[in-house]
Amino acid sequence: MSGVIGYVGNKAAKPFLLQGLNKLEYRGYDSAGICEFDDQLNVYKTKGRLSELNKIVEDKDLKGTIGIGHTAWVTHGAPTTENAEPQLSSDGSIAVVSDGIIENAQQLKSQLLEAGYSFTSESAAEVIAHLIENNYQADLLQAVQATVKVLQGSYAILVLSAKHPQEIIAAKSESPLVIGIGSNENYCASDVQALLDYTREVYILQDGECARITKDHIELFDQAGFIKDLQTEYIEWDQVQVEKDGYEHFMLKEIHEQPKGVRETIANRLDSSGQLNLAEEIPPELVKGINKIQFIACGTAYHACLYGKYLLEQFLDIPVEAEYASEYRYNRVKADQNTLLIVLSQSGETADTLGAMRVAQDKGARVLAVTNVISSTLAREADAVMLTHAGPEIAVASTKAYTAQLACLCLIAIYISQQLNGVVDQELLTGLRMIPEQIQKVLHDCEPIVQEYANRYATATDAFFLGRGIDYLSAMEGQLKLKETSYIHGEALPGGELKHGTMALIAPGVQVVGLATQKVLLDKIISNLQEVKARGGEILIIAMDQDFDYSNAGNQTIFIPEVHPLLAPMLSVVPMQLLAYYTTKAKGLDVDKPRNLVKSVTVE
Ligand code: F6R
Repeated sequence: MSGVIGYVGNKAAKPFLLQGLNKLEYRGYDSAGICEFDDQLNVYKTKGRLSELNKIVEDKDLKGTIGIGHTAWVTHGAPTTENAEPQLSSDGSIAVVSDGIIENAQQLKSQLLEAGYSFTSESAAEVIAHLIENNYQADLLQAVQATVKVLQGSYAILVLSAKHPQEIIAAKSESPLVIGIGSNENYCASDVQALLDYTREVYILQDGECARITKDHIELFDQAGFIKDLQTEYIEWDQVQVEKDGYEHFMLKEIHEQPKGVRETIANRLDSSGQLNLAEEIPPELVKGINKIQFIACGTAYHACLYGKYLLEQFLDIPVEAEYASEYRYNRVKADQNTLLIVLSQSGETADTLGAMRVAQDKGARVLAVTNVISSTLAREADAVMLTHAGPEIAVASTKAYTAQLACLCLIAIYISQQLNGVVDQELLTGLRMIPEQIQKVLHDCEPIVQEYANRYATATDAFFLGRGIDYLSAMEGQLKLKETSYIHGEALPGGELKHGTMALIAPGVQVVGLATQKVLLDKIISNLQEVKARGGEILIIAMDQDFDYSNAGNQTIFIPEVHPLLAPMLSVVPMQLLAYYTTKAKGLDVDKPRNLVKSVTVE
């Protein structure tokens, strides 16, 4: 995944481009570049971090008032300066930046080689630049429109031409692209966050559309090339919301934003009299007559799906399944018009998740999306959407989106149970209303303990997360958090499974987190933990029942407040998020941008 950015106006483009690329950094990248037009196209690019690009351009007085930029997560070839974007056409008159993956790039390249073009990189953007040059007659827009017709895959591209130095052409299919509307200047970017310092009025380009963007005008064209009305929208997110707000890292800030995220997610959906107000978002017809529910997602969102499945299974007699989206889309999909597919995605742009949803839609399934991004592809393509109001999540490791997803799923489960069985679990609803304050309490009580305890993890190579029942699902999310940020191998296991193999890995000093929040399973998990302790494992217990004696089962116990057992995952995950954060910090690693990972996986 990459980030693209564009500016056209009266001011020098350089500051906007660099600042915008900085805002897109979270998407992950290993090279960066910009191109401005000032009598000619001037390209500056490098492998490595944005700081390297800054060093190249900081002393250059770039006056061009139109430009495009790119942070690249290389999909073709190595992360070298040659492969970095912008890429130029062979005559140097056209510059292209792209996000996504062009599946037929190799085939198109062979055709261009046959036609006499030569290449200086392995970048798909160079293929696109040559194709545009090849299709160019006198109109850049037409050349881009002809080019995108032959591109297969997902892409968002920005094109700048020395022959048309007043305009940027934007086109997209599947990868996100937003146009920002300014006064005597206009912008484009892969993500609205790059634009919020400049404008809140945006147009989110749709698949197949092309736009011609000049400093005072935007012309929009549909797939067939016909001009369309530009219906802009207003983005409420404030720039401060996407900044660190005094925290050292976005991850810590976002962990602390969870009470707010959950509060805003349940607000207006659950009134003070305990009434659920969901019928507008999830029309009763969507669930009427369903005989199966399937959940799909990736990563953390998939762990939230497991929670949704667990909850719904408590209330319903119909089958409820949860599957990784990347598996679902290639398995034998058993969905039809009586299947409700619940799709979870923070970004709403995850390629596997969208792909899986489309497979189920082809089978006739009804789709309910749970996403954090209203303008996302997922939100647009689903039959119904329930937004998580976690606010923008910048750190690669998902935290506040997860707890907001759990809150949404709790509401959804109660609502579906009401629709299908006429039963509302009032105790669960009442408990849910208390969760934001209880997360706050967990943060307050646990943070100093976890911060201290995390020092034990600084030299660890493995950590095991044990739980039973719903605690096992939380354990899965705990191990992912630790693994992805601290690079410590993490593994989640149902407590009872330990003796069937993994116990062989338990030795003195091995780190273990034991989740013990479920009263009915407490004796069982405690005896599993005692077995670990007897073999020298060091155990951090996350528990709820303060009257129980945990001293023989762990080295440190952290208590979460007493809640309905089905709500415990929203609290027990918090110490594990903090453990991942403080361990990563203690190891001096890049907390917000772990190696090899990107925030939004828009390619398969
Ligand atoms: C882990 C994490 C990833 C995402 C996954 C799905 O912390 O962030 O596992 O959960 O890539 O992303 P979305 O939710 O945007 O579909």
